[in-house]
Formats: sequence, C-alpha cells, structure tokens
Amino acid sequence: MKIAIINGSHRPNAQSAKVAAYLADLALSKGLADQVYRYDLTDNPLPFWDEGVWQGDQAWEERLQPISEELAASDGFVIVTPEWHGMVPSGLKNFFLLWSNQELAHKPALITSVSAGTGGAYPVAELRMSSYKNNRICYIPEQLIIRNVARVLNEGADNDPESDPYYRRRADYALGLLVRYASALQQMRSAGGLFDGEFKNGM
Ligand SMILES: Cc1cc2nc3c(=O)[nH]c(=O)nc-3n(C[C@H](O)[C@H](O)[C@H](O)COP(=O)(O)O)c2cc1C
Repeated sequence: MKIAIINGSHRPNAQSAKVAAYLADLALSKGLADQVYRYDLTDNPLPFWDEGVWQGDQAWEERLQPISEELAASDGFVIVTPEWHGMVPSGLKNFFLLWSNQELAHKPALITSVSAGTGGAYPVAELRMSSYKNNRICYIPEQLIIRNVARVLNEGADNDPESDPYYRRRADYALGLLVRYASALQQMRSAGGLFDGEFKNGM
C-alpha cells in the first residue's frame, strides 16, 4: 500500500506541511501504508500549465516524469490544502491541471483542509466540486478539517489539551478509512475497462 500525500500550501514553514508530515508519520507508524510519497508545493516548484504540457515539451516531460511515476504507483492520496481567502491555493489547482487520469483515476483521496482559525470548509467544497472531473480521483466521504491548526499536531508543546487528542484520533480513523477504500479500489481497477477513448474527459 502506497499513499501519496500532497501539501498544497506554497508557503515556507506552512502549517499544511506540518499536517502532511504528521499524516505521513501516522500512516507509516500504524502500518497503514508500506510506503508514503510526499510532494510539497512549497515555494511553487512547478510552473503554471502551458500548451507544452500537452505537446510533449521536453522540459515539461523531464520535470513531470519523476513525480508522475510516484503518483501512478500510489494506491491512494491525501490532499492537504490550506484555506486561502476561502479558496484552495492556485498551485494546488495547477497540480490538478498537470496530472490527470493516468496517475489519479479511480483512486481514493482524503481531503484534509487546514485553517489558522475556524475556517476550512470552503477548500473541501471547492475540491469536491471542481478538481476531479477529468482526472477521476475519488474523494472519499470522510474528510479532515484541521481548525486552529497552530494549536494541534505539534511535536511536543503548544498543543491544545482538548482538540489535539481529538484531531489525532480523527486522523487515525480517516486514514484507516482511506486505506480500506484503497484496497477495495485496487480490485476495481484491476478489472480493466476503465478508460474509453470516446469518453476521455468527464462530463
Ligand atoms: C493568502 C492567505 C489567505 C488566507 N485566507 C484564509 C481564509 O480565508 N480562511 C482561513 O481560515 N484562513 C486563511 N488564511 C490563514 C491560513 O489558514 C493559515 O495560514 C494556516 O496556517 C494554513 O495555511 P498554511 O498551510 O499556508 O500555513 C490565509 C492565509 C494566507 C497566507
């Protein structure tokens, strides 16, 4: 079982990176996954999509290929996104333009949104509404919304005594569900017949 964890924040030292690291450690330490691949959008490592992506431009191929291989080998995903002005960061939307059905299709994903305050619902709604159509990633019904993030999931001090244990239990539960969906969908994908040239994109 290989899980890819994407941190969608562009910010250095982002809280989303902290949450992504926590979930990666949890998945491995609990034996939920044998392998975790982490990809961070910190400091915008990827240019915005341009026509070269679809025209087989060599620079794009060299840039994307190593990441594509990791994503294609993954059985499930955790998409960690901060709430920025009530939205998903543009770099994360760009991620969904760059990788599509060859890597993501019919694989489960756990949305994990992150807020410094009591927000975090908008990115969940946005991803569920508009990020899956062509790549056919399967968001599972469970999601995590990590609110007041600075006070939880820290190593050592500064954790809120009530909410921190709650989020840790909830993350464990949600990751456990993701892995069960991942096992089930492995079987579904192995049956073949998933791709039809006539219906390359979703409606
Ligand atoms: C440009 C920007 C816009 C933000 N807008 C929101 C917002 O709309 N709602 C919210 O709850 N937090 C907002 N925040 C605060 C983030 O929730 C906070 O930075 C949190 O740590 C998650 O982002 P990070 O992973 O980049 O650290 C915003 C932060 C930035 C940098």
